[in-house]
Amino acid sequence: MKYFTTTSKASRRAVDCVIVGVYNRGKLGVGADDIDTASKGHLRDLIKSGDVSGDRGRVAVLTKVPGVKAGRVAVVGLGKSGGLDAAAFRKAIAAATKAIANTKTKQILNCLTLEPVADCDAYYVARHTVESINDALYRFDQMKSGRKKSGMPLSTIGFSIAKRGDAAKATSGADHGEAISAGVSLAKDLGNLPANFCTPGYLGRVAKKLASGNGKLTTRVLSETEMKKLGMGSLLSVTAGATEPGKLIVMQYKGAGSDQPIVLVGKGVTFDTGGISLKPGAGMDEMKFDMCGAASVIGAMAAISKMKLPINLTVVVPAVENMPAGNATRPGDIVKSMSGQTIEVLNTDAEGRLILCDALTYSRRFKPAAIIDVATLTGACVVALGHHRCAIYANNDALQDELFAAGNSSKDIGWPMPMGEQYDAQLKSNFADMGNIGGAGGGSVTAACFLGKFTDGMNWAHLDIAGVAWKSGAEKGATGRPVSLLSEFVLSRAGALP
Ligand code: BES
Ligand code: MN
Ligand code: ZN
Repeated sequence: MKYFTTTSKASRRAVDCVIVGVYNRGKLGVGADDIDTASKGHLRDLIKSGDVSGDRGRVAVLTKVPGVKAGRVAVVGLGKSGGLDAAAFRKAIAAATKAIANTKTKQILNCLTLEPVADCDAYYVARHTVESINDALYRFDQMKSGRKKSGMPLSTIGFSIAKRGDAAKATSGADHGEAISAGVSLAKDLGNLPANFCTPGYLGRVAKKLASGNGKLTTRVLSETEMKKLGMGSLLSVTAGATEPGKLIVMQYKGAGSDQPIVLVGKGVTFDTGGISLKPGAGMDEMKFDMCGAASVIGAMAAISKMKLPINLTVVVPAVENMPAGNATRPGDIVKSMSGQTIEVLNTDAEGRLILCDALTYSRRFKPAAIIDVATLTGACVVALGHHRCAIYANNDALQDELFAAGNSSKDIGWPMPMGEQYDAQLKSNFADMGNIGGAGGGSVTAACFLGKFTDGMNWAHLDIAGVAWKSGAEKGATGRPVSLLSEFVLSRAGALP
């Protein structure tokens, strides 16, 4: 994609489409005001007739507007004047993009970047523009047969800026937005790919391929035999019933010499049947998304390594299938984790924590500056926070605050959640050091507490992304979250934000 910045007026650029905005009560945004003047009041006439509206989410695509050089003008409703925040800004761009997605638009000039957006400078409005255009244009049709519809041939995105001094910030925002979008798209592809294609071995091959084009990135894929030598009895108990071999994928990006790395650990259950504690049939297909934690950390690695950030980042993905079989782990079985702690597997459907605990123990060898695991861990998290925010747990307030802030500025939002002794007590087992479930109440919290027993002495956080990683229903599909949040966190740690 090519990018440009411009201080010239919306009506003066001969692009395929300009995006402008109008607010409620007929108030025109900066770009819309110029289009209206150039067309001698055409836009105001359309507002009067109801064809153009300031209502949020409404888009009118006008062609051949007199006095305007662009082929199309997408007019987006922005709601109440003065009320534009980054989330509404992103929605507006996405709506405009979807409205022109079937056209032959090659160049877009976004004039909404001239509107005041809460807490956003030229860097963030450019980055949000690129991220939301790519999000809106994403399609997953590689599994469909026959001739595929060709997508919009977009090749250039421009940003209106108020002053030339904003150009460098906007360009940097666009570059970062492009890298993050590539990571988001990769995470969506991996999530959407069904479990008969996206196996643990496949994830390993994708991780290896990412490293092959990048001198600072290396990937190692450990086999079950190697994991057995490491003593990963907990992880291996989950993959026991599967025919598809489990893998431990380790990616290392070295952008900062011998600095301590940030370590991201992603749950990679390529299909979760529940195991012997079998899940009900309805909607079980969605458990192909149970590797979205893995997809998001691999996507974040793709983004960070593409941006060539001066930081060290390590990604660890325990990848397994959770299947029922004659040799599968039974409820009540006791397994020994790599940490030495024993676990009574009271429910084989609480498998995510069983693979993550060994991946977390393994990760100690990297002496992480911070270690963050990302997992579609509990249905209880969806009950608690719905599909809007992921749950943010941490063993210290500073890291929890940092992740909360990264969510807010990337608009890939989360919410801080509690841990503590009372919840911890729910994991007590009569027969082993702990059980793998915490009983009734606080299911997302007790899952976090379980992981907390393996992260003593590390600067650790856990994101439960069960509610945000994919959508159900008519728009069923992976969202690519929380690649943006994770990228923002690393960008900030690398000192690469303006
Ligand atoms: N992958 C699921 C969590 C999940 C369920 C995510 C539904 C999104 C939607 C996880 O492995 C699981 O099955 N968790 C159990 C834990 C329970 C047995 C303690 C759950 O949430 O029901
Ligand atoms: Mn499960
Ligand atoms: Zn699961």
